[in-house]
This record gives sequence, structure tokens and C-alpha cells, in this order.
Amino acid sequence: MTDLYTRIRDQPRDALDTIAKSLNVRASEPAMQTICARYMAQIALPAGARVLEIGCGNGATTKLIMQHVRPAQLVGIDPSCVFIDMAGETFADEPGVSFAIGDAAATGQADAFFDLVIAHTVYSHLVDPEGALAEARRVLRPGGQLVIFDGDFATITVALFDGDPLQSAVGAVMRHMMHAPYIMRRLPALVTAAGFSVQSVEPHGYVQTTSPDFLLTLLSRGTSAAAHAGEIGQELVDGFAQEARRRVANGTFYGAILFLSLAARKDGR
Ligand SMILES: C[S@@+](CC[C@H](N)C(=O)[O-])C[C@H]1O[C@@H](n2cnc3c(N)ncnc32)[C@H](O)[C@@H]1O
Repeated sequence: MTDLYTRIRDQPRDALDTIAKSLNVRASEPAMQTICARYMAQIALPAGARVLEIGCGNGATTKLIMQHVRPAQLVGIDPSCVFIDMAGETFADEPGVSFAIGDAAATGQADAFFDLVIAHTVYSHLVDPEGALAEARRVLRPGGQLVIFDGDFATITVALFDGDPLQSAVGAVMRHMMHAPYIMRRLPALVTAAGFSVQSVEPHGYVQTTSPDFLLTLLSRGTSAAAHAGEIGQELVDGFAQEARRRVANGTFYGAILFLSLAARKDGR
């Protein structure tokens, strides 16, 4: 298993700093902001609502949840104490927002306490999605909402033509950065089996051409991980990066991912 998010507690500080920077880049990109505004705007909560954010990382997406969902209280959990500290610092002046170390399958939160459980690009990294769904059901009040957003990562493309060698960098991303790249295709059945009623599954196209900063960091991290694993040499890592930058500079870069948001309600109102 090479997805480093599945071993986030073992990662050195410099790797966590790089990931945090990449999460901030992604959350601040107009394309992702538009997607978040669209899917989060559909979440309607009662006054005084409590939200549990699973896999909050350094709080990059927490800002968008606070902006668009506007809960009275938000608790973010993540297995990484480094990320939890970063998120805590960012939200130090917001009394309604707090963070705690926890796992999607063992959040440490009270039964039936939350109105919404939300996970943004977390399920593709989970080893035990069934355990995470059972835990989400436990902490939600009856009728509470579950919203899961993630990439259908098997759709990532940077290819400009059939057999484009740059596309093989995406293979490195899939092998080394996502434990479950197909999870969103399986999720409706898993969520239903866990005792939820699925309300919607919405597609969100993410296309980057002129400023593909997040995609460039994704390719760089994936190919570097492939080199670290001994699959390829640093020369090829550098070659992929140079080719991607060349395409950006001459206006030919194309990168796309289909993201999906799933909304469900806990059965047994
Ligand atoms: C791609 S990052 C997304 C972070 C954040 N949701 C965002 O959008 O910026 C995936 C996050 O999932 C967390 N994670 C990994 N395994 C987890 C688990 N078993 N339970 C909860 N979170 C987990 C990682 O530590 C990381 O912060």
C-alpha cells in the first residue's frame, strides 16, 4: 500500500508541509472554489447545526465549509496531529470551530450529535470505508446528512493524444497517491448498505489549462513517489515536470478530473 495518506502519521514534517501547501493551492483555485460553492450550497442545515468534518487536514476546505454551509459549530478530525495543529492555528479566532485527532472509523465523537458529516477528498484514501460509514451513521442524529466529495480519480487525464507519454505520470499518481481511486463509483451501494438513503450523486467537472497548479503538484508528488519506490529514475520525474511546464508555457496543457459529490440521509428519522 503506497498511498501516503493511509500512513499520514508516519510522514516526516517536510512531507506534511508539502501536502499542506498543495491542499491550500487546491482550495484556493477558482475551479475548486466554484465546485465547492455549488455542492456546498445544496446543503441545508437547521439553525444551530453541528458539523463533523472528516479528514480535515490543515483546514484548507474547512474555510469553504464555514463560508458556504455556515454551521453554528464545526469539529474537524484528522489522524495527523501536525495537520490538526495547523488547522487549529488557522481558526484560532473562531470559537465555533475546533479540531481533534481522530480516524474516520473512530472519530471519538458522541452518538447522534451531528447534523452533518462531511468528507472532502478523504474516502479515496480510506482503507476501511465501511467502518467510516458506520461511524458517520453513529455520530449523526436521525435524519442527519452525510456529504462525501471526492475525485473519480480513474478519470484523471493530461493526455493530448492517444498514447501521450505524459499520461503515464497519472499512473504514478494513481498507484502512489490514492488507495481507492474507484471509491466514488462504489459509494452509492456502500452508503445504502450502511443505513443511509442516497439523495443525490452530482458530477463536477474540473478542467485546468492555463494555471494548473494543483495538477502540477499532483503529478510531481506522484512521480516523485514512484521514484522513491524505485519504479522510475529522477531523470524521468524531471522529464515529466519539464514537459508539463513546457505545455503550460506554450498554452497546450490540458488536465481534467471528474469529481463527484454524494448526499445521503441517515435512515430512521
Ligand atoms: C487529500 S487530503 C484532504 C484534506 C482536506 N479534506 C482538504 O480538502 O483539504 C486527505 C486527508 O485525509 C486524512 N486521512 C487519511 N486517512 C484518514 C482516516 N483513516 N480517517 C480520517 N482522515 C484520514 C489525511 O490526513 C488528509 O488530511
